[in-house]
Amino acid sequence: MADVPKRDLVSIDDLSTEEILELFHHAEEFRQNLHEWSDLCRGAIMATLFFEPSTRTRLSFESAMLRLGGGVISAADPQTTSSAKGESLADTVRVVGGSYADILVVRHPEDGAARVAARYARVPVINGGDGAHEHPTQTLCDLYTLWKEKGRLQGLEVVLCGDLRYSRTIHSFCYALARFGANIVTMPYPGFELPEYVLLRLKRDFGVQTATAAVDELPGIASGANTAAYLTAHKPHQLALFTNLTNVEVNRIDAIYMTRAQRERHEGQSTLDYPRLTRRTLGAAAAKDASIMHPLPRVDEIDYEVDDDPRSIYFRQAELGVPMRMALMAFLLGKVQLRASGPATQATGRGIAGGAGLRCRNERCITNGEGVRYLEREFRLRSQDHAAMLCCSYCERELEVRYVGHAQTRACHRFDSPGARAIKVQQRVYFENEAQAEAAGFTVSGE
Ligand code: NCD
Repeated sequence: MADVPKRDLVSIDDLSTEEILELFHHAEEFRQNLHEWSDLCRGAIMATLFFEPSTRTRLSFESAMLRLGGGVISAADPQTTSSAKGESLADTVRVVGGSYADILVVRHPEDGAARVAARYARVPVINGGDGAHEHPTQTLCDLYTLWKEKGRLQGLEVVLCGDLRYSRTIHSFCYALARFGANIVTMPYPGFELPEYVLLRLKRDFGVQTATAAVDELPGIASGANTAAYLTAHKPHQLALFTNLTNVEVNRIDAIYMTRAQRERHEGQSTLDYPRLTRRTLGAAAAKDASIMHPLPRVDEIDYEVDDDPRSIYFRQAELGVPMRMALMAFLLGKVQLRASGPATQATGRGIAGGAGLRCRNERCITNGEGVRYLEREFRLRSQDHAAMLCCSYCERELEVRYVGHAQTRACHRFDSPGARAIKVQQRVYFENEAQAEAAGFTVSGE
């Protein structure tokens, strides 16, 4: 294998915007003749480790590697691997990444699992979907398809519809849309809105502001609602369109991205009256030129009669998954060089140890799941004001901490007090509240 530093794709943020655009061009080259590339990755082996069901993601990765001339080994059913005997993901990837395989694609039900795999494997790891967290390669396929369809991404009006809370495809997609300067209209099924931590990140990292959108023109798309949230990146070209960003009229839609209810992640929540795209709903004037997208599998959210509509591009998204994934793997294996540099900051370094007491609030995070046995809880500092905002290094869920203790003296202070400011960064231990600090044996100062 070529001697290139290991790069992983855990989050869509692990690729810079320029790199993504360059990968589109490589995907275009691969797509033009899928049969011409069987020497490019000859000798390389990809392992797919899938601990959750999959059709498209796994098979398109395997097809992509075979088309590049490489080989494939696959663990597609957790019941047939040692995870059924209790082996950890960390041990599995340590073994498979190396003499068994040169690149790993991992799908796992727990949020943050892909970051664990990336840390423990010696070879590049691609996130094939980790819990409700992210699914960056689906986003590459979605962006690539939309970019081909519309010729650009900047300034597009994209409606995200259905289960926005648990759909990992949605989370990666909206970070990318914000980065490319597209505007997002969210039309969730009630109770399945974009999670707070995603909105926070959109705001903090991409300067996205939220307005109310009037969508009277689209009855039936989001179960009866005629207002929606409008998310737009704080960029001059967009603000120029709306002098008063409090209420936006959505009268032109470039794409509607529909998702299925992620039932495996929210047992028991009713999805009666889940939105459904039909010929009638798509007859709205605002949707005249809207591409209809879906990561698939479709259950009932898009009528079969819509399949023949020229605006429907969901099978195209799946088809383009092969050349897109060929481009990504050829890049990660060092067989295709990109001119663009990677993202300015990469979330690969070590963060702040969770230390005594602090735990990720996301019950579906791998640090509260299988990782309890072997992972040290770890956080990154996002911002500090009157309190510090940390985020879990694995699943990225935010956590507000109000107390800081000294690792040696075990004295603890409110975050905004002089006592706290006097503690050197390396000596700091964070707590959400007094009770947590006391339970860990720290003495809380009254200042
Ligand atoms: C998606 C997934 O697994 O998150 N499927 C896919 O990879 N295309 C979407 C879904 O399962 O709803």
